Parts: sequence; structure tokens; C-alpha cells
Amino acid sequence: PARIRVHHLQAAKQRGERLTMLTAYDAVTARLFDDAGIDMLLVGDSIGNTMHGHTTTLPVTLDELVVAARAVAGAVRRAFVVADLPFGSYEAGPEQALASAVRMMKETGVAAVKLEGGQRSLAQIRALTAAGIPVVAHLGYTPQSENLLGGPRVQGRGDQGQRLCDDAVAVVDAGAVAVVLEMVPAEVAARITEVVPVPTIGIGAGPECDGQVLVWVDMAGMGDWSPRFAKRFGEVGAALTAAARAYADEVRSGAFPEAAHSFDA
Ligand code: KIV
Ligand code: NA
Repeated sequence: PARIRVHHLQAAKQRGERLTMLTAYDAVTARLFDDAGIDMLLVGDSIGNTMHGHTTTLPVTLDELVVAARAVAGAVRRAFVVADLPFGSYEAGPEQALASAVRMMKETGVAAVKLEGGQRSLAQIRALTAAGIPVVAHLGYTPQSENLLGGPRVQGRGDQGQRLCDDAVAVVDAGAVAVVLEMVPAEVAARITEVVPVPTIGIGAGPECDGQVLVWVDMAGMGDWSPRFAKRFGEVGAALTAAARAYADEVRSGAFPEAAHSFDA
């Protein structure tokens, strides 16, 4: 399968083909999702919540995301891999953002980086784009600002809708190659999708976005809780528990290992 490159994203939008994106944090899942034909993989800072046992994305470091991004980028053949820039790695300005993004590109092989914020992140998006690094913007609910936003709350309701739309236009003018919209009213996301030329990728942003993204553990039903905007497309957590139980049962009974799993002298 041919590798998806940056120009294919806009071409997909023009053809009206919906883009599919999932998070991935390691080579095992990256390979599985790439084989399933998922178009884009996000090495998200949601790794903090899903894999590292934090309650927010704030503690996640660039070092941690570099390791995960290298594993994901190295495992895929087709998917367009995007890595998050974590909290604290780009807010200080374009120079800090460039240093972080250059490191990510040099050490991992991802195709693009993602950062949060509209107006406040324009200088960073311009600097990365000027350096030849594709940037995916992230607007609406931005988890790295959860303390200021008061937790996961819908953004862009009422009068704020126009501001969000202005932000989307601004990040695209600054060079963003795609825009993630998180927890945005469906009508607002639809309007943004109409006015910007690059793909919008929604999560809790309704059906009119050019693509959808989900955190893979939510998509696969790994835990007992998932946010309202997620849908469980499998019960992989229950399947894993069942496999672990079956293994333990056979070890305890002596049914495993058999001769076929053992070596002669
Ligand atoms: O880190 C992440 O998983 C994300 C998605 C929710 C878009 O940024
Ligand atoms: Na993220």
C-alpha cells in the first residue's frame, strides 16, 4: 500500500472521502491499525491518560512522545503518522516549538506534528511550516488547557462559534494541513469544514467533519468508561481478560505447555 502523504489529505477532502484516524502509542497497535486501513495515526499525548496512568495530558514529556512516535512511525507502511507536541514544549514561542518539532521529525520519522491552540499558536504554526514541518492544529476543547477551561467541556457554543471559526481560518492561513476539532457543536464544525480548504478531523464534533479521530482504547472497548462522543466498536478489554484467564487456568492445571511447546534434549 502506498504511503499517505500530506497532499493526499486535501485530495481526500476534495473527493469527499472521509478520513479515518486513531491514536496509537506503540508498534503493536500501529501495525494492526495500519493493516486495517486506518488513514492517519496520532501519537497523542492522551498516552498520559491511556498508558502512563496520569489523569491529564499535562505530565507527558517530549522524551516520552519521541519514544512512542518512533515505534509507531517505524511500524506503519501506509498511514500518515502525526505526533503531538506535549504541554510545555511549544508555548514559549516559535523557537521553542521549532526545537521540539525538529527533534520529533529527526528522531522518529513521523509525517507531521500536532499542537493545540488557535490565535495563540499562529506564530508557532508559521515557524514550523516555514521549516518544512507539516502542522495539524487542534481547536475546540484542548486538553492541555484543561485547568483554564474547567475540564472537558464543549467549546464554541453561542457567540463563541464565530471565534472558533475565525481560529480555524487563521491556523489554516498560518499553514496547518489539517484541523482537529474536539468537543465542538456539530453545526459549528460543519461550518468550519465548509470554509477551510484542509480536512477537519472531528472528535465529539459531529458527522460533517472531513474525518473522525478516536482514542483507540475508547474505540476498542478497553476500559469500562469512555466519553460520550466515543463509541465502542469492540470489547477488546474483555477479550484480553478472557485470554489471560484461559492462560492462567491452563498453567495451573498443567494443560500448558504441551510437548509441542517444549524442546527435546
Ligand atoms: O492526544 C489525543 O489523543 C488527541 C486526540 C483526542 C485528538 O489529541
Ligand atoms: Na492530544
